[in-house]
Amino acid sequence: MRISLEQAASKLKQGELVAIPTETVYGLAADASNDLALAKIFSAKQRPADHPLIVHISDMAQVQNWASVFPDTAVKLAKAFWPGPLTLILPAQTHVSKVVRGGESTIALRVPNHPLALALLKLSQLSVAAPSANLFTQLSPTTAAHVEAGLGSSMPVLDGGACQVGIESSIVSVSADGTWNLLRPGMISEADISRVVGQPQQTLGNNSALAAPTPKAPGQHDLHYSPRTAMALFKDRASLILASEHLQQSGLSCAALIMGPGAQPDCHTVVLNSVPAEVAEKLYGTLHALDDLKPDRLLIELPPETAEWTAVLDRLTRAGHTKDS
Ligand code: TXA
Ligand code: MG
Repeated sequence: MRISLEQAASKLKQGELVAIPTETVYGLAADASNDLALAKIFSAKQRPADHPLIVHISDMAQVQNWASVFPDTAVKLAKAFWPGPLTLILPAQTHVSKVVRGGESTIALRVPNHPLALALLKLSQLSVAAPSANLFTQLSPTTAAHVEAGLGSSMPVLDGGACQVGIESSIVSVSADGTWNLLRPGMISEADISRVVGQPQQTLGNNSALAAPTPKAPGQHDLHYSPRTAMALFKDRASLILASEHLQQSGLSCAALIMGPGAQPDCHTVVLNSVPAEVAEKLYGTLHALDDLKPDRLLIELPPETAEWTAVLDRLTRAGHTKDS
């Protein structure tokens, strides 16, 4: 159900859920300071309660309401990339609810770069916790229609059009001493972050006796970001085409996603330009559309294993994990 900005603000203030647009993916938002509202997120998504949520804030000045420290490393990153597709994980203030922290001692914060999301934060005067607006383990939504298809047509949605970045934010954990770790790759790359911080990410495990425990890595579920259809991933076009022929000889249907020009398989095929930002923007929309065709298999061509493709490869590998049989 599409609602206006004013309706969205008043629902949030009443402790109700609203799906909101961001530049990455749509989020399922609730007042981050209201535990009863937060509980509705977990039940709507069917998400385990120990998964912490990202709090979306309107500007850098809000960090002090949630984090106990704002190390120089994090200040540099916030100044460089907010509003934008970067989430910072910082030590939390002790008063911050365990529900939003998922029991962790840290809090995840982000200023989203979407005019409607920012207008909503301003109008409601709230900070909102928002995981991606999909059922747990399903594909993230990048349009209002994806949200309604996944969570039902009665879910209130603030329609802000198709998301421009298309995959979830990069998540960086920053310790009180300013060392940092990239926990989830996104379109802001490890190299972008190193450049701004002026120091590489802390490598864990160099000295196993002294190394800090590995931080809980987000999105590490086997079936995270998955379409319903079984997916098979291919490093080269020729083996994808061969697989499509074998499937069809055995009476099974397939649909394919390939990147860049060249030969195509003889089944429903989407071709994306082989440019990382373009593939990211269209990735989930394409997977949603191919999934809706209900083929027996989705055949996906993987991009090369180079740094610029890290985030897209991460999402595709997770989507394909264990379903490739
Ligand atoms: O782009 C995005 O980040 C989107 C939009 C809506 O902002 N949000 C998003 O939220 O992807 P979600 O909940 O689907 O993914 C956030 C990930 C989860 O895997 C969660 O476990 C992790 O971030 N996370 C949140 N707080 C954390 C914390 N304090 N420590 C470690 N991981 C954390
Ligand atoms: Mg998610």
